[in-house]
Amino acid sequence: MKKWQGKCSVVLRPASTKEVSQIMKHCYARNLAVVPQGGNTGLVGGSIPVYDEIVISLGRMNAVESLDPVQGIVTVQAGCILEQLTSYLDAYDLTAPLDLGAKGSCMIGGNIATNAGGLRYVRYGSLRGTVLGLEVVLADGTVLDSLTSLRKDNTGYDLKQLFIGSEGTLGVITRASILCPRKPTSVQVLFLALRTYDEVLRAMKLARTHLQEIISAIEFQDIESLNLVLKHIPGARDPLPERSAFYMLIETSGSNASHDAEKISEFLAALEKEDLLVNGTLAESEKQSQELWKLREAISESLSKEGYVYKYDVSLPVAQMYNLVEKTRMRLQNATAHVVGYGHLGDGNLHLNIVCPKADNDVLSLLEPWLFEQLKSYRGSISAEHGLGQAKNSFIYYSKSPESVRLMQQLKHFFDPKGILNPYKVLPPN
Ligand code: MLT
Ligand code: ZN
Repeated sequence: MKKWQGKCSVVLRPASTKEVSQIMKHCYARNLAVVPQGGNTGLVGGSIPVYDEIVISLGRMNAVESLDPVQGIVTVQAGCILEQLTSYLDAYDLTAPLDLGAKGSCMIGGNIATNAGGLRYVRYGSLRGTVLGLEVVLADGTVLDSLTSLRKDNTGYDLKQLFIGSEGTLGVITRASILCPRKPTSVQVLFLALRTYDEVLRAMKLARTHLQEIISAIEFQDIESLNLVLKHIPGARDPLPERSAFYMLIETSGSNASHDAEKISEFLAALEKEDLLVNGTLAESEKQSQELWKLREAISESLSKEGYVYKYDVSLPVAQMYNLVEKTRMRLQNATAHVVGYGHLGDGNLHLNIVCPKADNDVLSLLEPWLFEQLKSYRGSISAEHGLGQAKNSFIYYSKSPESVRLMQQLKHFFDPKGILNPYKVLPPN
């Protein structure tokens, strides 16, 4: 992101939970602040020290420890890279319940600590449902063993939920057990061109009707984002003969190719009947699927190559999502900036990004707090899946009530009385 840089002079790379515990005991005794760090792929500066905090990098704790192939439950150390976990599971006809563009470097501990959403959330849901157990090292070095592998367990409060999405501010996640779905045997990827956002919404409704249980992704992107991918990403090419204002990537994952093909034909026929489709393509090989996915997954990278990016990762009612992009475009009409909209349509999660030639305070003052006020008026979220980190923590009140924030602060104080766990992140400055 080229936005944050701390002045850390110590990086510790523990190889076991015991070593993490020893580090925390030492830091607790000496009041030393730490930043737990996984693949460092977050987009809100959550894994980067603000001052001279010690980095605890989990990368050496990367083993897949055990697998129950019958239930599909894997136990894995926090530093395991998501793509490596997916490859491991592949051999057992299983897959990870999440996927994201950063899969080649993000780590499972970081995914859980940030409650990462990603591309298949619409199918497999939140990590809050698929993480069955966690092992966490607390601020004073105590090891909290909640590493059960049970689908159902209603004994008392579900403590692990507190650490999921806490961005390393309540404890250091060291191990997790995760429920993994069967690997689909039939995967189809469609890339569709549409004229208007309203037509995108109508196409999504038809996809839900005709593809229902086999949908594994419903993504969208506007022409501005496609143009930047084609400009900056080597090998990216437009699969369609002419450009259109909007694109949808729909993926299905099932277990019977001819059944899925039949459903896709019905869906395409319904689109044609309603005159929604300008153009489209259905991948005919794994390679083509990957090329289509690249057009969506590489947006973030292409924006960074274009210039300085103001990133907003927001939730709001899906019908209003693109209105916000258009309003932003109007507001910035005199600025040199690309206003780009894309995201996880099926989850009501918009990525609204503004790319300027360089950091521009005039643009920033037009965007903030105006954008957050807009979201508040929709009862939306200022951070749908990226978290708050050090980028959005001051704005938490736009999405959470003072009572909720106060309780969060009390919880933080309870778990971390000395304020040594990833300080200056998530919660607003006092
Ligand atoms: C994505 O969906 O591509 C990621 O969340 C990254 C981004 O917001 O650009
Ligand atoms: Zn995303």
